[in-house]
Amino acid sequence: MILHKRILTSAVFFGIVFSPYTQAQNTRFTKVAPGVWKCVIGNPDKPDLYSAAGIKPAGEGLTRLGDAEIPLREEDIKADVLNGKTLLSFPLMRGEQIFGFGLNFRTVHQRGRILNLHVDHYGGTDNGRTHAPVPFYVSDRGYGVFINSSRYLTVYAGTGVRKDSPEAPGERDRNTDKRWTSRPYSDAVEVVIPAEGAEIYLFSGPTPMEAVRRFNLFSGGGCLPPRWGLGFTQRVPTLYTSRQAEEEADLFGEKGFPLDFIGLEPGWQSRAYPCTLEWDSTRFPDPAGFVKRMKEKGVHVNLWTNPYISSHSPAYNKILPYTGTHTVWGGVVPDLTLPDARRIISDQLERSQINIGISGYKIDECDGYDYWLWPDAAKFPSGTSAEQMRQTYGLMLQDLTTHLYRQQNMRTYGLVRASNGGGASFPYVIYNDYYSHEDFITALINSGFCGVLWTPEVRSSKTSEEWLRRMQTVIFSPMAMINAWSSGTKPWSFPEVEKEVRDIALLRMQLLPYFYTEFARYHFDGIPPFRGMNLEPGFTMKAKSELRSGSLEDNPYSEAILKEIKDQYMAGEYLLVAPLFTGQTSREVVLPKGRWYDFYSGEYAGDGEVIKVAPGPEKIPVFVKDGAIIPMMPPALHAPAPGEKFDLEIRHYGKKSGAYKLYDDDGETFDYEKGEYSWRTITVTADKKGKLTGTLSKAEKSKPDNVGKVTWRFMSQ
Ligand code: GAL
Repeated sequence: MILHKRILTSAVFFGIVFSPYTQAQNTRFTKVAPGVWKCVIGNPDKPDLYSAAGIKPAGEGLTRLGDAEIPLREEDIKADVLNGKTLLSFPLMRGEQIFGFGLNFRTVHQRGRILNLHVDHYGGTDNGRTHAPVPFYVSDRGYGVFINSSRYLTVYAGTGVRKDSPEAPGERDRNTDKRWTSRPYSDAVEVVIPAEGAEIYLFSGPTPMEAVRRFNLFSGGGCLPPRWGLGFTQRVPTLYTSRQAEEEADLFGEKGFPLDFIGLEPGWQSRAYPCTLEWDSTRFPDPAGFVKRMKEKGVHVNLWTNPYISSHSPAYNKILPYTGTHTVWGGVVPDLTLPDARRIISDQLERSQINIGISGYKIDECDGYDYWLWPDAAKFPSGTSAEQMRQTYGLMLQDLTTHLYRQQNMRTYGLVRASNGGGASFPYVIYNDYYSHEDFITALINSGFCGVLWTPEVRSSKTSEEWLRRMQTVIFSPMAMINAWSSGTKPWSFPEVEKEVRDIALLRMQLLPYFYTEFARYHFDGIPPFRGMNLEPGFTMKAKSELRSGSLEDNPYSEAILKEIKDQYMAGEYLLVAPLFTGQTSREVVLPKGRWYDFYSGEYAGDGEVIKVAPGPEKIPVFVKDGAIIPMMPPALHAPAPGEKFDLEIRHYGKKSGAYKLYDDDGETFDYEKGEYSWRTITVTADKKGKLTGTLSKAEKSKPDNVGKVTWRFMSQ
């Protein structure tokens, strides 16, 4: 047995004999993909997060990113297996900041926090219990760490002080020393895994963005939604009938509001909470006819469900032998690690819904609340622990449903309330019942650090101002959605701002070519489409270099960076979105280094500075990078259907020349995986006098080409 030097020293000092269960582990890493390193500690148990998600690393994307050195020294990482637990320690440098550890709602900086990573609904505190408690963190020093374990991990992110720490702060006398502090300096991220082992992965940079990209690519690359998935969506009240849903779709058209899919809430099922997974024949007498008629209106249908099966379900008797010891609301809980259980649920979804053209699901209640979910004391027929089932249930449900659509060669895009590490390629957006607008934006930022998508959905509002402000942010998010399951709100519910809401919803549609391309970059290159400022290269790296050169004090931009920035974010490559919340008429915006321009007017806004903006209620502040190229289409009520040509208005901002690759494919199938896609280069060049000209390269022969007429708008000329 190899005993760690530190353990030996203390053992000798106290004259104690170590239990035979203490074992310092070798932290030798093996390269498993370019810039990705893996180390196996002890005896990891299954399912882990990667096996539950069934990941297939995106080899091509990882190869394109290129190789990189291992980002941490193996000897600086410590691991012990002790009394059935695994203890890990990773180094932290002075001034280093870390981000991630899942879908947090209030904090972006994670250094100094203690978290118990546990799939759960979000209860108002960033304590690790959340819808996607992904055990991944990324450092501003440009590397990422992932613990591939489906246990409840406890993370001490820079709180504990080890005796063998290179920077151990030592003791101070509180009686006399004013510098005494209750929370002395810590230079380690420590993790406790309640199991005798786990896999650890390191993702190289050199920038934080590259580490995140490698993390996303390693789990298969980000999802690529169907084009319609990025349009507008409305969820209708729980007990709506098919007729009411059809009337609602018509009303959107009549009022000139875009609508690509409608979500039916629990009432489409004959019973819910637990669910039958079967249509209610009074509210939906002809489901196939209903779906067909909606399709003719250009509207897809999404269905709410939870995974707890009612005794009235046609699947009940078949699934019963494959369910756990506990019920949820009287429904049985399928053991989704068992192929038979998956097949029974799949058959039911396919037969009753997918085969008639249902476009996707909203998978609810798989995150939980301890008072109604199965407890950790539950048992499942496969022998999988209740804890691991809880941590992976959302992943398995996403995997199951994504697989069904893949079999039909149709993409889906839906909602889920729980996910975890490894889920980046699943076409699902997380949502919840919490409703703080500010915290919804912080969650959007955090989603970009951990390979998940999040929507700051709009449900209801006290005032028209709040309604408009919420609508403005949801259209700059992965899913532009009103969830009216209880409120019954419509986009036009506040007549005072109906026009402004319509304009912003139509702006979402105009931005579809840009957002679709940004999702393709998520898929092929692992770049999160919505992300925090700390992943902006100029933002983080500049701060660090100025820290070193000591010029920090006299640069307001750098000072601001040291503050946690949780209310502005990047939407794709070029757009910086700085929302205003109810009651605010102005706000500060931190512009990273480089020249930035106002999205609406093209006017110069600033360069590496903090600006104050007061744009009026109808506008959400959005800024654009110098040289940015934004491909937009005309305002439309539906996303372009497969094969439908759309005109492009290509906008350029600033003075610099620029280039952007525009992605195109059929927008609906998986044929892009067989090479049926195109990347066309948009170039804008400035001549000596600053005059700008734009070109769009031709699509390769026999590759998708949906672009119609092209017009150019040089916004800052
Ligand atoms: C909640 C869910 C809501 C809505 C509701 C329907 O659990 O978060 O968005 O779907 O169920 O009962």
